[in-house]
Amino acid sequence: MAKTPLYTALQEHLEKKRASFHTPGHKGRFLPHDLYELDLTELPDTDSLFEADGCIDAAEKAARELFHSQATFFSAGGCTLCIQAMFRLAAPQGGKVISSRVIHRSAVNTMALLGIEPVWVRPRPDAGPCLAGRLHPEDVKKALEQNPDAKAVYVTSPDYYGVLADIQGLSAVCHAYGVPLLVDNAHGTHLALLGKHPLALGADLTACSAHKTLPVLTGGAFLNVGDTEISRKLGFAGRAKEAMALFGSTSPGYPIMASLDLARAWAMEQGQEAWEELAIRMAKIKETARKKGLLLPAGETDPTRLAIGTLPVGMTGEEAGDFFRKKGVEPEHEDGAYLVCIATPFNTKEELDRLEETVLALPEANMSIKETPALPPLPPVRMMPREAVLAFQKSVPLEDAVGKIAGEAACPCPPGVPIVMPGEEITPEAILFLNNYGLRSIQIILQK
Ligand SMILES: Cc1ncc(COP(=O)(O)O)c(C=O)c1O
Repeated sequence: MAKTPLYTALQEHLEKKRASFHTPGHKGRFLPHDLYELDLTELPDTDSLFEADGCIDAAEKAARELFHSQATFFSAGGCTLCIQAMFRLAAPQGGKVISSRVIHRSAVNTMALLGIEPVWVRPRPDAGPCLAGRLHPEDVKKALEQNPDAKAVYVTSPDYYGVLADIQGLSAVCHAYGVPLLVDNAHGTHLALLGKHPLALGADLTACSAHKTLPVLTGGAFLNVGDTEISRKLGFAGRAKEAMALFGSTSPGYPIMASLDLARAWAMEQGQEAWEELAIRMAKIKETARKKGLLLPAGETDPTRLAIGTLPVGMTGEEAGDFFRKKGVEPEHEDGAYLVCIATPFNTKEELDRLEETVLALPEANMSIKETPALPPLPPVRMMPREAVLAFQKSVPLEDAVGKIAGEAACPCPPGVPIVMPGEEITPEAILFLNNYGLRSIQIILQK
């Protein structure tokens, strides 16, 4: 047989038998093997995702109960498709959206596609050193006062490190100003089973990357419409399919959609108990990490997400990642300061024990970590994200970029807050900061 580099690499990876503390949430243990045979298409009896009125519609309606939503929709195009749909629903033809500065690439790209003008609000560094922190309702209120024409507020919660924003406070502010709150809840679908889902806390729309934490095939996600006055007034539920169809493939994978249906049924029958049990186990692992002197995000966090700041033990997150892999643990994410593990009820007891033993085996803490340095001022906006993202671009060494316009978000981790966004001027202060964090080049736009 001819060479199959990808297939072979995946097989070889499995042979390493590392404990999976990364996405997808099923960990290879929940879904039935007949999903291959269920790779069907739109047939008279299999419905059609964007014109659903049969079994897909019924499965989506069943999912409303899990989230207590006004409406829930399936995506086989990841949370990205749900994020695209949220923006299309709230700002169909562009306009201002007040947005946390800490957002996923898919949100920046959607802003570009729809001609949205972001009004950035920075999080406050309240989650401890080396983390971005949370968007605060008072800061959003100020932005809404200054921008009465804003169409929505957009926030990521939880973030990659499990840090939860004050969704109740944010939604109260949004509703007082008559705008919807859109939440990128990519990392928090399971929070529905722990009483902390943003929809239950007042969000109007949530994009939930089910495959990250629930037993769903990669690419499976839910778009939720909250049962709120504003989402009814703006007709979100009735317009959602059209918004998703604008960006989605006409061939959504049936195995992915079937896995959403199966995971939802599991979640409703056994999910709460399973996640609560996991939260207890993870609390113990977090305590072990704390006792070792590792950093943990401060304030309210996802009880099941393990994010550990490794600088106190003299390792970057990347170095700790290598250490974890040598011990047979594959983490989700590593950066200059933190290592992140995604545990789900589909990790075995042995895997969770291995995770805790690996945390214990890290060197002893021997240094204290200072607060993250203050961020440089927000740079001047020279063009809209749309113009910048769609412009021809080139990569240049950082030192040659002074005064140029960024074509991409430049976001060193830590602190995980973009220092420049597409369309913003690259200032000397930004360059100094990025350089200190090891960034050596940046995409700039080529002007005519
Ligand atoms: C915060 C956040 N939002 C959105 C996404 C996009 O999700 P998906 O890969 O399901 O499209 C991700 C993916 O990692 C993410 O981390």
